[in-house]
Amino acid sequence: MIRQGLLVGFPTETVYGLGANALDATAVAAVFALKERPKFDPLIVHIADPSDLSDLVKDIPAAAKTLIERFWPGPLSLVLVKQDCVPDIVTAGLPSVAVRCPGHLMARTLIREAGVPIAAPSANRFGMVSPTTAQHVREQFGDRLSMVLDDGPCRVGVESTVISFVESPNGMATLLRPGGVPLEEIEAVIGPIEKSTHQPSRPSSPGQLTSHYAPRTPLVIADQDTTYNDHQRRGLLCLKTPTNAASFSAIEVLSESGCLRTAAVNLFAAMRRLDAIGLDCIIAEPVPEVDLGLAIMDRLRRAAAK
Ligand code: TXA
Ligand code: MG
Repeated sequence: MIRQGLLVGFPTETVYGLGANALDATAVAAVFALKERPKFDPLIVHIADPSDLSDLVKDIPAAAKTLIERFWPGPLSLVLVKQDCVPDIVTAGLPSVAVRCPGHLMARTLIREAGVPIAAPSANRFGMVSPTTAQHVREQFGDRLSMVLDDGPCRVGVESTVISFVESPNGMATLLRPGGVPLEEIEAVIGPIEKSTHQPSRPSSPGQLTSHYAPRTPLVIADQDTTYNDHQRRGLLCLKTPTNAASFSAIEVLSESGCLRTAAVNLFAAMRRLDAIGLDCIIAEPVPEVDLGLAIMDRLRRAAAK
């Protein structure tokens, strides 16, 4: 199906993707159409093997090579100067392309069997919560997507970390989106990196668009201890055991033990469950911004920005 220019939903270790042949501009256009994604938001190209990167980009800086050796296959996307074979629609006209080699056997098998790199955004409508199960993908697209490969829930649960090597004039690494590989682990191997300043009007990585990953129910980041004197139906999204359970109509605990990695795995599915039961609002408790907590807080802030 990928070779025929059709779209396939498939699992990765981060979230489910909506895949098309990355070298087929018509197939990639269908991804933008199905997702209702604006054409200025470039896609990540997925490869089966780290050595396939050299077919897609011009130059691989030493620090990028270090990151590849340490983190690929895995939840890390690298933005590098693209070669001409990558269609402009994939990169939204940018001279750079984001590439990653997923740490997921079924994903890499699909790419290898297709024989082409696969361009894939998260398999959700633009701006909505990312899917972490095949069922989420089917709920979102139904019959409009002919096939969804199912390999159960994603083991990371938040999208890949996006690092650019084209953003800063001196070719230094810049963090565009916190994700599955913690920033601390990246800085431990290549030293301190720049953090992209947030520019909602002209994002260099549209995952930086302020309103993104958002449920339809209004979401507010606040402590659960706040007392309310109205009759609103509130949902609570919290890391550990709730201390103020009586104030909420529904509660989602992300990790009983307070483990941020477990919390990341559960985050999007918990947001979806709270979004599905007609609450007036969702109170999301802040988590520590270390390890996967940086990506979790990034997604919560974007969900709250809607
Ligand atoms: O984990 C993931 O990365 C998932 C799975 C399916 O691999 N994919 C994903 O794709 O999250 P998407 O389209 O939802 O997010 C891609 C992010 C966006 O923030 C986009 O702006 C950024 O990568 N991006 C892609 N190409 C870029 C480029 N050339 N320069 C800067 N940012 C880029
Ligand atoms: Mg996405």
